[in-house]
Amino acid sequence: MTSPTRDNPSAAKRARILAVTSGKGGVGKTFVSANLAAALSKRGLRVLVLDADLGLANIDVVLNLYPKVTLHDVFTGKAQLDDAILPAPGGFSVLLAGSGLVEYSRLTPEVRNDLLGIIDSVAPRFDCILLDTGAGISDVVLFAVSLADEVIVVATPEPTSLTDAYATIKVLAAQQARTQLHLIINQVSRVGDGKGVTQQLQQVLNRFVQTQSGQPPQLLPAGDVPLDSSVREAVQKRQLLLEHHPGSPASQAITAIAAKLAPHA
Ligand SMILES: Nc1ncnc2c1ncn2[C@@H]1O[C@H](COP(=O)(O)OP(=O)(O)O)[C@@H](O)[C@H]1O
Ligand SMILES: [Mg+2]
Repeated sequence: MTSPTRDNPSAAKRARILAVTSGKGGVGKTFVSANLAAALSKRGLRVLVLDADLGLANIDVVLNLYPKVTLHDVFTGKAQLDDAILPAPGGFSVLLAGSGLVEYSRLTPEVRNDLLGIIDSVAPRFDCILLDTGAGISDVVLFAVSLADEVIVVATPEPTSLTDAYATIKVLAAQQARTQLHLIINQVSRVGDGKGVTQQLQQVLNRFVQTQSGQPPQLLPAGDVPLDSSVREAVQKRQLLLEHHPGSPASQAITAIAAKLAPHA
């Protein structure tokens, strides 16, 4: 039996897989993944967040989970996959990687097969899977992103973050033939500021990057999220922002992003 793929329309329904990635670290990928998952769950979707920042995983900290079983135990045959899929506070499920595992810092054939196997097992059970990946263009990160149907790039308006986002998008266009990428501008001073930043980034892509079709990759603006002190408060309290402060500007922004992304799930 062949496994269902996105190229096979008669295949069983599989989750839509979205990779949340960035050029620079610390821009808000885990914050976005966790809260977007909660917002999509509120819309009635069955959502799984896979902590794909293998080795430097920390979504468990944000969600205040103390996992007894992690992906590492599943990979090493010490536990069943079902025991590693945990219910998270926002109504979604989460698969935690476990932190500090040096063996996941390199893309070995084992890491590759393990990740592929996990995705194949969980995809039929959910409507949407968010891969909370690491930053940058290491082979592990790029492989995790390659497993996704769509990519969400998270960047902040800082020049360093945008330069790194550009580098990441360039690699994804060349290596994975990504012609469209969702873009979230996080930590903007005012909602709406992301528009200009997105346009600037698109202009640079138009000049310097081509996909195989000869066209530049197209940025799909998913929305901006304001810099909001309630985000840090929520992290301190180890709560989802959507639960800690659902009316906060950043919560509202994430909810709007979920509404924009959800219809295609
Ligand atoms: N919109 C925001 N407003 C305020 N602080 C934020 C915002 N987004 C992220 N942060 C802060 O940045 C920190 C790093 O975010 P995180 O999601 O862990 O980044 P990454 O996963 O990309 O490394 C968070 O702990 C949070 O305190
Ligand atoms: Mg993270």
